[in-house]
Amino acid sequence: MTSSIMAPPLLDVRDLRTEFTRGKRKVLAVDGVSFSLGVGEVLGVVGESGSGKSVTMLSLMGLERPTGGSVRFDGEELLDLDEAGMRRIRGNRIGMIFQDPMKSLNPVLTVGRQLMEPLRVHRQLDRRAARKRAVELLAMVGIPGAALRVDDYPHQFSGGMRQRVMIAMALSCEPAVLIADEPTTALDVTVQAQILELIGSMQRELGMAVIIVSHDLGVVAGMADRICVMYGGRVVESGRVEDVYALPSHPYTRGLLGSIPRVEVERGSRLEAIPGSPPDLTRLPSGCAFRDRCRFATGTCALEAPPLVDVPGGGGGHSAACVLDVTPEAWRARTTTAEVA
Ligand SMILES: Nc1ncnc2c1ncn2[C@@H]1O[C@H](COP(=O)(O)OP(=O)(O)O)[C@@H](O)[C@H]1O
Ligand SMILES: [Mg+2]
Repeated sequence: MTSSIMAPPLLDVRDLRTEFTRGKRKVLAVDGVSFSLGVGEVLGVVGESGSGKSVTMLSLMGLERPTGGSVRFDGEELLDLDEAGMRRIRGNRIGMIFQDPMKSLNPVLTVGRQLMEPLRVHRQLDRRAARKRAVELLAMVGIPGAALRVDDYPHQFSGGMRQRVMIAMALSCEPAVLIADEPTTALDVTVQAQILELIGSMQRELGMAVIIVSHDLGVVAGMADRICVMYGGRVVESGRVEDVYALPSHPYTRGLLGSIPRVEVERGSRLEAIPGSPPDLTRLPSGCAFRDRCRFATGTCALEAPPLVDVPGGGGGHSAACVLDVTPEAWRARTTTAEVA
């Protein structure tokens, strides 16, 4: 479900920047990221490991300090809030689940206690009501015997069940936005599918907006209305999933989709979707961060990082950050030449 065109987005991230220093080097982990999310909309954020996806999410939740930009949530500027102000939003209006549940679950407290905590703080429920709600939440995310399991400790659950507990915690206050950062990466393939299905069904049931983050395009494409492709701390392509699939416009997106002929790579011992290694943010090349892995790069690409511009004929809201002519005809010509080369 996508919000109407006139309504302001629920979450609007503009030109977000977060940098770290590592030794003497500056790491621009998030370099001018912008996206928006409508009520009940599902946004997928995809990119190889190290592309700045997690730091983007932590920055907009106030768990990392951005150095610039704006994060407007429901009419309020989150970057102006102090820690107490952010705590009012985090875990309440915006829920978050991470790759590793053991990082967010406290091993010495029962899952019930941990589920009750946000309900008591944000919803002012008394012990009895909070406990009752905790059991309901565990049942809702598919934990068998929820009334008994509520008194168990995190280590007494399997990986998949712990991830369900995490989801129950994130959903406990019925957030308007759920941020799921690699929620299935640590899980077996069959459990992965179940967890994605659970997130999808909760999204529909609660009418929540969801940001699903993954290094795996397949994971996000199945769920998302729109996607943002990240590379080297920047968004290099964004648009509705069907538009991006129909007309992938940035060479990196084409690589992720496996639609660039892989002649050289196939001669090597390993099959990689995209030759070369994921970006090292301390040693990004000048200009376009992808250019040292891009077979279509020219001298122009070294000059400056291209801004996101509308893809011609790409449907509303489809944009890519590349100096190439990204029309379908140009891509057809380019890939045909590449194949015979
Ligand atoms: N607290 C930190 N201090 C310094 N560098 C960090 C910190 N957190 C992340 N980084 C660096 O920022 C970059 C982006 O990381 P991250 O957002 O975790 O990538 P992704 O989630 O896309 O895999 C990486 O180079 C990572 O090493
Ligand atoms: Mg990450």
